[in-house]
Amino acid sequence: MKDADFQLFPDAASTVASRVDALFWFLTFLTMVLSLLIAGLIVYFSVKYRRSSTADRTPYRADTRLELIWIIGPLPILFYIFFWSATLFFELRRPPADSMQVAVVARQWMWKFQHPSGKREIDVLHVPIHRPVQLTMISQDVIHSFYVPAFRVKQDVLPGRYTTVWFEPDKVGEYHLFCAEYCGTNHSRMVGRIVVMSQADYEAWLSNDTGQPPQVAGMQLFEKFRCASCHGSSPSPRYAGERDGVRGFELSEPGIQRGPPLAGIFGRDIPLVDGRTVTADEAYLRESILRPQAKLVAGFPPIMPSYEGQLSEENILELIAHIKSLQAEGGTPP
Ligand code: CUA
Repeated sequence: MKDADFQLFPDAASTVASRVDALFWFLTFLTMVLSLLIAGLIVYFSVKYRRSSTADRTPYRADTRLELIWIIGPLPILFYIFFWSATLFFELRRPPADSMQVAVVARQWMWKFQHPSGKREIDVLHVPIHRPVQLTMISQDVIHSFYVPAFRVKQDVLPGRYTTVWFEPDKVGEYHLFCAEYCGTNHSRMVGRIVVMSQADYEAWLSNDTGQPPQVAGMQLFEKFRCASCHGSSPSPRYAGERDGVRGFELSEPGIQRGPPLAGIFGRDIPLVDGRTVTADEAYLRESILRPQAKLVAGFPPIMPSYEGQLSEENILELIAHIKSLQAEGGTPP
């Protein structure tokens, strides 16, 4: 990325970049061939049938064979483009399971990133080379769009809903990050950099880290809001002492579960009171924290209060990271 140099085409710095380019150039080539063909015929016919010419003007009569050729002829090409694009699209939509997880919160007018180690950055994202990186993104205000031309990825970032994008950088360097959705006065300044480093440089860069991993911050929030009193696998005596004086919020009888236990819940199919089933993904966990009654788990009473307005988007992402980690550790709730 050099601001001084004019670049007609962006760098190709991710594993999909060259494949997106191949499709792009194929479509461009095909469009050019057809455009030239049509433009050429227009010129040819204009000359041939000019007013003063004596060309044959007998009205055209449909020729079934000719019609079939130009209906069936392009079909394989269009199907070829369809399967080519669809394959690429699915690959771009399916992050590898071992992706490094980065949380992104966009707002007017900045990009906030958090690494798995907890390290936070604003408007700059450092990533290691040859490692898939998955971003879980949400906006604090209006619609933004995360756009890194060098990686050939662009994804809207929405308020109230998680979107995701992934890439695997394969070239060390610095690349432009743009907001590609008009989001107010300083939209054009909502830019940043993606810094791709060698694995060793990335680890060195991470090592002067002061943050705490999101799942740890999430565990602290979990304790602060006393989530475990209802969501532990059984009511924990540890909480009995802490909750003295909090009336109407006492521990239930031992053995009675007031809320679904959260250990191992992430990614599972959850039966709901209305008979539907929902997958416990990021979107569902976020909704259940903010609007607990929206999709109530079968077998549990509608007693959870809403935490709307009490948690920032970062907090919610941390809580979700904590719930995910309960699964990773084989699931003992705190
Ligand atoms: Cu954010 Cu445009």
